[in-house]
Amino acid sequence: EHPLQEPPPYMEYQGISFPASNVKKETLEAMKTFEIRDDDVVIVSHPKSGTNWMYEVVYKILSGKKEKSTPIGLELWPPEKQPNYIQLRETPSPRLMYTHLQHQMAPPGLTAPVNKVKAIVVLRNPKDVCVSFYYFSQKHKYLKNPESWEQHSKDFLDGKMPFSGDYFDHVLGWWQMRNDPHFLFVKYEDMKKDFRSSVKTVAAFLEKELTDEHLNLILNSCSLESMRKTLEESGKISVRKGMVGDWKNHFSAEESARFDQKYRERMAGTGLEFDFE
Ligand code: A3P
Repeated sequence: EHPLQEPPPYMEYQGISFPASNVKKETLEAMKTFEIRDDDVVIVSHPKSGTNWMYEVVYKILSGKKEKSTPIGLELWPPEKQPNYIQLRETPSPRLMYTHLQHQMAPPGLTAPVNKVKAIVVLRNPKDVCVSFYYFSQKHKYLKNPESWEQHSKDFLDGKMPFSGDYFDHVLGWWQMRNDPHFLFVKYEDMKKDFRSSVKTVAAFLEKELTDEHLNLILNSCSLESMRKTLEESGKISVRKGMVGDWKNHFSAEESARFDQKYRERMAGTGLEFDFE
């Protein structure tokens, strides 16, 4: 926790706030002309939906190796480094990257109907995303430390999350791509329920044949426990509880009802549904 420190500066772009230390207007502007290649693989997600988990799976499907990936976020400009989009411009194919950008802010090449890129959208139910974001914001100094759980869950529902803005806008924006054959949608809850078949689905989408040995390597090295171990060793902290339904330990009945109402309003008729337990 960092309660006595100045809140970190945020930068507003197209109605969404970004932590100024990690995202700059210049990088977001650059997205308009960032060239997506036919052989790129892009993981798209609302923050805290299982991005790193999917990244690790995809990295290992593509590499066949046990070594850990170093996830690269398209729109990020890590302090004291060059912007990631510049590094990516110079990275030889095939490239793997992730983005938390909303659909309309992403490089046009990603969503153009003529594209050949492979995009994997990871989706997770909003209540668990909200809880995961709460702890994440407490741990990272470039994010504002939530005043309280009550305030955080209200801000989440009001669409005030850094990087992603409004959860429903974010998810439904990308959901528009659901009939595009270059897009695969994978739910966190389905990965939890049957990891083996999720990995097979992702591999098939990437047109990679997996031997049993390769599949087992992925299942073992991307399990919650192995990822916790490797990430802790490297000083990263994106692995927390890694379960479906932790929201029940945080939401009051009233907060839950408010979420349910907004969920019903925004998801009605979209064909998108989530498991909450
Ligand atoms: P919790 O905070 O609910 O535990 P992201 O990578 O998009 O930031 O998502 C982080 C969430 O994914 C965290 O959720 C984290 O624990 C979970 N996660 C990371 N690796 C996982 C794994 N191997 N299995 C299940 N969940 C995992």
